Amino acid sequence: MILFKTSADLHKWLAIHQEKQSLVGFAPTMGALHKGHISLVEASKKQNSITISSIFVNPTQFNDAKDFEKYPITLEQDIARLEEAGCDILFLPGIKEIYPNDIKPARHYELDFLETILEGKFRPDHFQGVCMVVHRLLGIVQPDNLYLGQKDFQQCMVITKLIELLKPEKTIKVNICPTLREKDGLAMSSRNIRLNGQERKKAAAIFQGLQLVKKKIVPGNLSGLKEEARNILEQSGFKIDYFEIADARDLSIVDNWNGKQKLVVLVAAFLNEVRLIDNMILH
Ligand code: PAJ
Repeated sequence: MILFKTSADLHKWLAIHQEKQSLVGFAPTMGALHKGHISLVEASKKQNSITISSIFVNPTQFNDAKDFEKYPITLEQDIARLEEAGCDILFLPGIKEIYPNDIKPARHYELDFLETILEGKFRPDHFQGVCMVVHRLLGIVQPDNLYLGQKDFQQCMVITKLIELLKPEKTIKVNICPTLREKDGLAMSSRNIRLNGQERKKAAAIFQGLQLVKKKIVPGNLSGLKEEARNILEQSGFKIDYFEIADARDLSIVDNWNGKQKLVVLVAAFLNEVRLIDNMILH
């Protein structure tokens, strides 16, 4: 694996080594890598001749300064993992490489409804920050294929919309990979490192809540079922930001299910200081 810290060096290398017609796959990350991240690299390797991953803890997407300060950094281990997975290139930019003109927003991304709900509602400006960094990274890497995790369901929609807004010359295909989970169902996340032993055990309640909905959902009013699932989380000590069932195509909240709409159940909740998110497609 080759490590580049500047877009200029990356471009020089690509100009020499990238053969015509060959495909470039890209899996952006914020590091503290786990098997979920690695699964994106593996998916890319199957479909592209060059696989690029990036690690950049993006300050503009953290609405909570403490969360940014405490974001885990495990760079040496990350490099070893990417190398083991056969990643070709790691792009490891510094802040000036991503934000040469300061970190003030240069434009507003028109995400409309998508940033008013769920993560958008509870983390103001989070998705503007995600768009800022992904816009810059896509400009630098210019991938054919982008690999994202379903774990961040709303982020997948936001980035798909970003690409529609940017209308890049070269088509970028968004590939959404399944959520990798621990044995007890907890979705793998960089933030899981911050849970202590007791919290780690309790964290499985998120998956139990999602599964309950998946098992018990029937057409009609969904409020009773949502309440039942919320109770599972609350009994394990979670403070819930949201636990919602939504239309999987546009994320509009569904209170009454007609039995036909494709649904997704999404949750964000705090266990003490640590905020976890997860989701499950229901059909
Ligand atoms: P990060 O949280 O590091 O996640 C990087 C990618 O890994 C995202 O596409 C995310 O959905 C995926 N991922 C995380 N956990 C996963 C799991 N358990 N299974 C499968 N995939 C998983 O998401 C970000 O970084 C940032 O917002 C980023 C897109 C890099 C922009 O800064």
